[in-house]
Amino acid sequence: MQMNVDGKNYRTIWLKENESNVVQIIDQRSLPHRFVIEDLTTVDEVARAIKDMHVRGAGLIGATAGYGMYIAALHAPRDSDQAFLDQLVADGEKLKANRPTAVNLEWSVKRQLDAISACDGDFEAKIRVAKDMAQTIADEDSEFCRRIGEHGVAIIEEISQRKNGEVVNVLTHCNAGWLAFVDYGTATAPVYAAYDRGIKVHVWVDETRPRNQGASLTSWELGQHGVPHAVIVDNVGGHLMQHGMVDLVITGTDRTTYTGDVANKIGTYLKALAAKDNGIPFYVALPSSTFDWEIRDGVKEIPIEERDATEVKSIKGLHDGELKRVLLTPEDSPAVNYAFDVTPARLVTGLITERGICAASEEGVLGLYPEKRS
Ligand code: MRU
Repeated sequence: MQMNVDGKNYRTIWLKENESNVVQIIDQRSLPHRFVIEDLTTVDEVARAIKDMHVRGAGLIGATAGYGMYIAALHAPRDSDQAFLDQLVADGEKLKANRPTAVNLEWSVKRQLDAISACDGDFEAKIRVAKDMAQTIADEDSEFCRRIGEHGVAIIEEISQRKNGEVVNVLTHCNAGWLAFVDYGTATAPVYAAYDRGIKVHVWVDETRPRNQGASLTSWELGQHGVPHAVIVDNVGGHLMQHGMVDLVITGTDRTTYTGDVANKIGTYLKALAAKDNGIPFYVALPSSTFDWEIRDGVKEIPIEERDATEVKSIKGLHDGELKRVLLTPEDSPAVNYAFDVTPARLVTGLITERGICAASEEGVLGLYPEKRS
């Protein structure tokens, strides 16, 4: 079953009907309180949507960059092939700036540039290639997430059988649901698949300060699908684990090395440590677009995005029917805002990919993706 909002099927990004030079997105800044669809028609608008997190999540920012490159092709100068390509390279850099951790973004821009450069047709042909590639990136993301659900559901099914059909409690961090991808999501895909099969499942949703992607997005999309869940503050997970209230942790990732180190939303590492201490399986779900095939040591080499201190010092929510931001800290207190951390492979039970489940190790990953062996 695909993802629905008030019973209507949506993806997170698409081309506007009968106006294929307009990209439409769900503006996630207003969720869960308002469902707003936004039109994007220029590269600057797409870059801003990525930078200011109208769209966010590894797969979705990759797909957005794919559509952004199509918009770039529509507007690039047509004086010469070189001028056209130079503009696309510059626009690609603009799209990639500001969100350095999620590897899907640079992967998607590169995929577009490779495809467009390989086209020796006229400008219309190059634009068609960019449009087709944007659709392909989005379709693949959706299909890969669907398959992650098919593979990952076996883990939940097995726990459910072991518990004689009692509720399986899954803890997740941040939003790695369909809102972070094009459809289905990664961490949530096995949960949706389990729920759709009638397996009793319940999700502990970490609120995920400072942007609260769990509290505002994961909870909203689980609710839309009918999946039982409860929002918890970020520090509760360890307590729940100590008391047998978590059977399994599944998170997403923004970049995973081929050796199995996992970059994900800040705080993931602490959940992995707590899971290890309590003997609870800790899985990470990802499509192959999120692997970094170059980097061996995630802690040393994955760039960690630092965001504005405002996100730490204040919080946004609904007050008297209006979306408002309120200050939490002394006005003058400095704050720092690391957006991601890296969980070393040794703390990860397994990786759930579109090709199946593997160990978080070079051997495990290359066993599933033998074409990446050098
Ligand atoms: O900063 P965000 O919201 O773009 O963070 C990315 C994420 O959605 C999470 O880190 C998520 O758990 C990874 S899966 C996309």
